[in-house]
Amino acid sequence: MSRQLFVTTALPYANGKFHIGHIMEYIQADIWVRFQRMMGNSVDFCCADDTHGAPIMIAAEKAGVTPQAFVADIAAGRKPYLDGFHISFDNWHSTDAPENHELAQAIYRDLRDNPDGSLIEKRTIEQFFDPQKSMFLPDRFIKGECPKCHAKDQYGDNCEVCGAVYAPTDLINPYSALSGAKPELRQSEHFFFKLSDPRCVSFLSEWTQDGKLQPEVANKIKEWFSERSNPDGSTSNGLGDWDISRDAPYFGIEIPDAPGKYFYVWLDAPIGYLASLKNLLSRRGVNFDAYMANPALEQYHFIGKDIVTFHTLFWPATLHFSGRKTPSNVFVHGFLTVNNGEKMSKSRGTGLDPLKYLKLGMNPEWLRYYLAAKLSARNEDIDFNAEDFMARVNSDLIGKFVNIASRAAGFLSKRFAGQIGVVSEDGAALLHQLRGERAQIEQLYESREFAKALRETMLLADRVNAYVDANKPWELAKQAGMEARLQDVCSVCIKAFRILTCYLKPVLPELALQVERFLNIEPLNFVNIMQPLAAGHVIGNYQHLMQRVDVKQLDALFEAPDSAATSAGTGQTPTSNPAPGGEAIAATIGIEDFAKIDLRIAKVVACEAVQGSTKLLRLSLDVGELDDAGQPRLRQVFSGIASMYQPEDLVGKLTVVVANLAPRTMKFGVSEGMVLAASHADEKKNPGIYVLEPFAGAVPGLRIH
Ligand code: MSP
Ligand code: ZN
Repeated sequence: MSRQLFVTTALPYANGKFHIGHIMEYIQADIWVRFQRMMGNSVDFCCADDTHGAPIMIAAEKAGVTPQAFVADIAAGRKPYLDGFHISFDNWHSTDAPENHELAQAIYRDLRDNPDGSLIEKRTIEQFFDPQKSMFLPDRFIKGECPKCHAKDQYGDNCEVCGAVYAPTDLINPYSALSGAKPELRQSEHFFFKLSDPRCVSFLSEWTQDGKLQPEVANKIKEWFSERSNPDGSTSNGLGDWDISRDAPYFGIEIPDAPGKYFYVWLDAPIGYLASLKNLLSRRGVNFDAYMANPALEQYHFIGKDIVTFHTLFWPATLHFSGRKTPSNVFVHGFLTVNNGEKMSKSRGTGLDPLKYLKLGMNPEWLRYYLAAKLSARNEDIDFNAEDFMARVNSDLIGKFVNIASRAAGFLSKRFAGQIGVVSEDGAALLHQLRGERAQIEQLYESREFAKALRETMLLADRVNAYVDANKPWELAKQAGMEARLQDVCSVCIKAFRILTCYLKPVLPELALQVERFLNIEPLNFVNIMQPLAAGHVIGNYQHLMQRVDVKQLDALFEAPDSAATSAGTGQTPTSNPAPGGEAIAATIGIEDFAKIDLRIAKVVACEAVQGSTKLLRLSLDVGELDDAGQPRLRQVFSGIASMYQPEDLVGKLTVVVANLAPRTMKFGVSEGMVLAASHADEKKNPGIYVLEPFAGAVPGLRIH
């Protein structure tokens, strides 16, 4: 039975552009949503700008525009990011839209008029007021001297110098950060949501502890319920009443029957989820109340770890006590840091700017793949590491997956007019194994264990590559009478590639689309993948599916904006041409000098890690030589390439070796030659070491002339 899902991501504040943390959240949610759609479920995936509150109002004033114009400007810049990273929202709305005003007011009235007793209470509180601006000041806009360490210019809630936490009224010589005026304490009537009401406490302790939340999230919340001691010696439970009103002037939604009072932004922000959905449904002609009344409707919110309280306490309580349906679950993710959590410094630029990433022509699916390869269902931080990014994309995504298609498709189109052939038993067994993993992979996507889903899929890709290596289509292609086997093997590869593409499609939607076109097939999903491609099906011509990450792009991405102007394709002439590969071309030699170096094709017969060395691999090379008994003589060669290759990646591969280099005794044994590998002079520019591999057809012992 197909499910009906309503999915959201947190509504970003409309006071700035997206940063990479936002994009990570959208990619995580988008993968899950696309997976659900591929399962045949119906998903409405919504977001909006979070527009209200004092900081946005003040930023707009500074910019000399109305808050409405300010947030409209931010909204207008969203599309290139969302389209650029293939985020498939069905709607992007605004918390300042009419739907949100209406819904927030209706929900408030229902809380206030709850038949079992109102959940709203009015109380008079004392607050700092800026007499020059004629407004009450949020804590962040009051500054003064720290009462503890006497550091000057500290914020109203805590001291950045000594870390003390206090109330704004504790500050010595407080002043308004807006006008500089000395604030006055004034009384004002505020509206409170009675979270301390026993009904709320019992509802929320059940809602947060019934097993739906991630265990680490539920445990954290449990602490908030425990008793705490007050300064006066009394105790109270962790749920204090929540101040939901702000006084004019405020950019927000007016509280009904309370002139000059507005909802605190965090009351109306999550209601914006519903407003966005309502707006989407109305454009479709679907009734919002009827849609929400569906008991089978599932509602999920993807959020970061910093806004758990709002989503697991305030939000479910707001919905429940206004007589509405509460979320099915809240999925909490950790924070993304960039290059080992390194603080975003001026010299390194602004960290990882998502728009710059796109403008540099970097493939959005590299980032989707890389983040997916790190994401789990747990609330834990993840780090974007440039070197790790390059290695995962180049060696896994391209090396293991994309290459399967490129290895097989050419033969099918050139030799068999693109026709899929009949598959024999060994290939059928492999394909059967691949299909057999479907349920497992579905389960991993469903539970947001994306890293595990990709790991499983890459293990399957390994099996396919082993099949290719065992059957060597490039050799079959040269042998007479092997036509049928060649078509068989290549057909198995393409069929396997189709299954793997399906498993990766939630993460790589654009690549999957290209594959669907090239294979001439219907959009892949987790249902139709069980029907194999029939013999006789004709595929199109293989077109290159994906580029490798180029280290230059990463350099440019993390280059500070001012230095970028001199080199990163801005049309300006660079001041000096950098040497290729980081070093100038060596002095000219004659052919006789080159002839002294005997370079030979070698085959890696065995390869292993070297105990006690993180850099070296021990290779056994066949250079076409025979020993006295006429048996192939193998050479032992040590090579400093362990950072780039797993021993099993190299076994069976051909490469080039300096065959007449004097043997060298190393700590781990004698090295009888040197494997050729390319690297940059400056390891920081490109840490890679790339072993040379000859074109197909070369055999061990051939000399390089
Ligand atoms: N406006 C509120 C959310 C209201 S939801 C009804 C807000 N906005 S935000 O722009 O600050 O953050 C939006 C989302 O981005 C949040 O889920 C937040 O956790 C997430 N992230 C912000 N920085 C992040 C990282 N560095 N890494 C991952 N996610 C991060 O909070
Ligand atoms: Zn201090």
